[in-house]
Amino acid sequence: MNLQISTPQTQLVQRLSATPRGARLARRLTASSLASWGYPYDGEPTETAQLLVAELAANAVTHGRVAGRDFELRLAHLPEENTLRIEVSDPRGDRPLRILRAAPGDVHGRGLIVVEALARTWGVRERVVGKTVWAEIPLTPERRGGSGTP
Ligand SMILES: Nc1ncnc2c1ncn2[C@@H]1O[C@H](COP(=O)(O)OP(=O)(O)OP(=O)(O)O)[C@@H](O)[C@H]1O
Ligand SMILES: [Mg+2]
Repeated sequence: MNLQISTPQTQLVQRLSATPRGARLARRLTASSLASWGYPYDGEPTETAQLLVAELAANAVTHGRVAGRDFELRLAHLPEENTLRIEVSDPRGDRPLRILRAAPGDVHGRGLIVVEALARTWGVRERVVGKTVWAEIPLTPERRGGSGTP
């Protein structure tokens, strides 16, 4: 018998309230999920993933919010592609994302610029209801161990 065992995907899917607290929780869940997959809290992949989730979740709970509806965080480690895929879904399908050009004194308008800078690739996908904003970063087995590991 030719038994094929495929590499298991490591995944988190969590619905969260569309509030600042929900957005904070998304960021924390990202760190704890990556820690449970073997990536330390202070390692570069976790810090980058947390920054991306923070921006995408903040956008979901402000611009993508519909009263009474949750948003959803999905993290998937795709080991065969050495990739961490981050997806943040919100229920608003009627507002396009805009890359803003924040002026030096502006308080807002930088989130997607940060996403653009940190993600290897990112984008938006329509859903039946709302949309998913996704971003991918490298997550290689070699990077396991994080700080303190040669
Ligand atoms: N999930 C979303 N749903 C609807 N519109 C969005 C979403 N994310 C971003 N946008 C739109 O794209 C714009 C740019 O987002 P970006 O995160 O760069 O800036 P910001 O959220 O306005 O400010 P900052 O992130 O710096 O606090 C937003 O102002 C908003 O109009
Ligand atoms: Mg933003």
